[in-house]
Amino acid sequence: MSVDQRPEIENLLAEARTFPPDPAFAAQANAKPEIYDEAAADPVAFWERLARERISWFEPFTTTLEWQLPFAKWFTGGKLNVAYECVDRQVERGLGDKVAYHWIGEPGDTRTLTYRDLQREVSKAANALLELGVRTGDRVAIYMPMIPELPIAMLACARIGAPHTVVFGGFSAEALSGRINDCGAKVLITADGGWRRGKKVGLKHHADEAVSDTPTIEKVIVVDRFGEGVHMVPRRDLWWHDIVDRQSDDCPPVPVDSEHMLYLLYTSGTTAKPKGILHTSAGYLLGTSFSHEMIFDLKPDDVYWCAADIGWVTGHSYIVYGPLKNGTTGILYEGAPDTPTWDRWWQIVEEYKVSILYTAPTAIRAFMKQGPQYPEAHDLASLRLLGSVGEPINPEAWLWYHEHVGRGKAPIVDTWWQTETGMILITPLPGVTTTKPGSATFPFPGVEADVVDGNGESVPLGGGGYLVLKRPWPAMLRGIYGDDERYRQTYWSRFDGLYFAGDGAKRDEDGYFWLLGRVDDVMNIAGHRISTTEVESALVDHRAVAEAAVVGVKDDVTGQAIYGFVILKAGQEPTDALAVQLREHVAYVIGPIARPKYLMFVPDLPKTRSGKIMRRLLRDIAEGRTLGDTTTLADATVVETIRDNTGVAEE
Ligand code: PRX
Repeated sequence: MSVDQRPEIENLLAEARTFPPDPAFAAQANAKPEIYDEAAADPVAFWERLARERISWFEPFTTTLEWQLPFAKWFTGGKLNVAYECVDRQVERGLGDKVAYHWIGEPGDTRTLTYRDLQREVSKAANALLELGVRTGDRVAIYMPMIPELPIAMLACARIGAPHTVVFGGFSAEALSGRINDCGAKVLITADGGWRRGKKVGLKHHADEAVSDTPTIEKVIVVDRFGEGVHMVPRRDLWWHDIVDRQSDDCPPVPVDSEHMLYLLYTSGTTAKPKGILHTSAGYLLGTSFSHEMIFDLKPDDVYWCAADIGWVTGHSYIVYGPLKNGTTGILYEGAPDTPTWDRWWQIVEEYKVSILYTAPTAIRAFMKQGPQYPEAHDLASLRLLGSVGEPINPEAWLWYHEHVGRGKAPIVDTWWQTETGMILITPLPGVTTTKPGSATFPFPGVEADVVDGNGESVPLGGGGYLVLKRPWPAMLRGIYGDDERYRQTYWSRFDGLYFAGDGAKRDEDGYFWLLGRVDDVMNIAGHRISTTEVESALVDHRAVAEAAVVGVKDDVTGQAIYGFVILKAGQEPTDALAVQLREHVAYVIGPIARPKYLMFVPDLPKTRSGKIMRRLLRDIAEGRTLGDTTTLADATVVETIRDNTGVAEE
């Protein structure tokens, strides 16, 4: 085969283990195989039926989908209120006393909020926003730790039709002011701070610094988490307890159009200016809540824990809007998984009898590194379903999760989606899908995905290429705030008429989708396009390895060569002999073409604040360049530590 006929991305790693659904689980599952057929027969009619059945319309919609590529409108003519759907509806159907959130502070303080509590608190907070002059359509910025006032503030905005933009509490003042200025927010809701790894992490001084540079912010509402007082700017700053507590708990929800903006969420672009991803009301609510019920097999008595931060889309869709719309009892945990010890999560699972846990591969690999003794020290029998999101999950991490957390029983849903997609789009349905460790399996009913080559042609089964979506879905982004052209360019210009997500993928002979990482990270070794994910999974497959990241570095002979960074499991010694073994292991599992030329043992990896490995920085380190933009890096010291590490083993 000549170089230009080579596949876009090679399909090298074959994972043969399969996990068919347990018949007992299948018998009680929410999802039935027929929903694939119904959705495939007429996707628009499928979503229409669901929208009519599941949303309490103030005014029914007249058109299901208006699609003027790349701009979609769903359920036009309809009016609804998202906060009403998530909160008041639950009270009206008799769930007022049901727990909406069990909140657990890192130091061990707790709060319980029922749906009735939520209705009261959301109404009061909405009245406070009205008193401050916030009107339907005005933007509100939220910058908070994981405390109950965060979802309350989001729902208060939704109640009056004021779009929110939540900025993750770990972001800097500069990131906050940039986002506020992009959307022109009128009010900022923040807190004095929150607990993280046993320390008080202040937010208010970042908020102050940000607001000194944001002319549109008129008022700042501050939640008192620590009870110690902070500097308050006269006439601008108000304590939450002063302004919210005295409000009436009656605040009629404002009916808004289906396509009314619900929120903006900025994606932390690694290089360019962050993009304000725009989500609207009805389609988003339908997509997140329906997918939540099917994919997590949600039942009335489940205790569901999505362990993400609400500041990310995972929290928006699967801690707040989807679960509340389904009347779920959820866990909100403020702190870190290792505080005070590495079994904190398992204590919470045991104490609250958590039945569904949804987390990220980065967390699973961190637990793997510490060893199974932590989950094994607790009774995790309540867990009946596990989920993964955010990155490709290596088969070994999947199997570890299955064995040590799911006790070999709980099905795992590996869910692929993005800030832009709003809802999970590629995923198993528990009770229906036979899973394969490391594969996100199939598109959700009503979603059409494909793997295409550089010309946009579908790649036959068994091949790799670019992951695309072929049809609009209700929770999709409606654009980039204030920049239609960038929206078109970023997502719709690479392939004619297709949404290109930026990810590489392959489908195996059975049609299963396997995510291969961002295409920008794909390595080109002697003309073979090799996915970072597959080499990393081969490294993690070795019993000594907890986590690995690989990048392509310039090479005179092969164009690029593979450079691997490896974190060992606790108790493993980094030796030259082990480095040789690991390289051979990759050659054995995948083939000699994928054998890393260089390998470095590292204590940690540079990650974004949402836990994604920043391979761009690893490439800089590997090629000895000065570092590119590090503003999205969670822990800047990691890079220094890796640089100071001299133990590079070379082939
Ligand atoms: O590369 C894919 C990866 O995360 C990207 C989206 O990131 P973000 O917008 O921050 O949203 C994360 C939470 C939805 C995707 O383009 N990704 C997400 N889930 C998976 C994944 N990669 C592989 N497998 C997944 N399950």
